[in-house]
Amino acid sequence: MSSDTRSKSPPPEQAQTTSRRTLALATAAGACALAAAAAGPSLVFALAPLQAQKSSGRWVKTVKLDQLQEGVPRRVAIVDDRKDAWTVERGVELGSVWLVRRGDRVLALSAVCPHLGCSVNAVVTPEGRGGGGGFACPCHTSAFDPGGKRTSGPSPRDLDELETKIDDGHVVVDFRRFRIGIDEKVET
Ligand code: FES
Repeated sequence: MSSDTRSKSPPPEQAQTTSRRTLALATAAGACALAAAAAGPSLVFALAPLQAQKSSGRWVKTVKLDQLQEGVPRRVAIVDDRKDAWTVERGVELGSVWLVRRGDRVLALSAVCPHLGCSVNAVVTPEGRGGGGGFACPCHTSAFDPGGKRTSGPSPRDLDELETKIDDGHVVVDFRRFRIGIDEKVET
């Protein structure tokens, strides 16, 4: 019986080797855990701007519908909180859009010229009716009709239209930005 028990015990050298392997494995596992813990905040830090970019579209309340005259463009500021991955600024002017009332619906056009990003103006007709002559960019003379369609100049596309809805009597705009200088309407 006693000789069986002795035969199951590893020799001293083998026992030392086994305990060194166990120590090495434990050290490696600990190092991995530390590396993951250290990388975690860095990964969040690196990926956060990507997540922030995904939320570029936002519904922003603007003026009351009855403050718009039928067919007469009105430029309104888009004011909302500006958020990035780490901070929030309250009540920041993010840009502006042209609103044109058409009955109970409202056409919203980005005020940013698709050519190189200047701010477009409504053209006042000789009779003094704002917007009856469409829109014009003061930088390189691109021109657009009252619906935002490009009629002349170097702009590569029409003015960028934005979605709108009426909520509690107010015009709410799905505010987005688009790349300039290209034919396609591509959100930034
Ligand atoms: S920026 Fe508007 S025409 Fe060039």
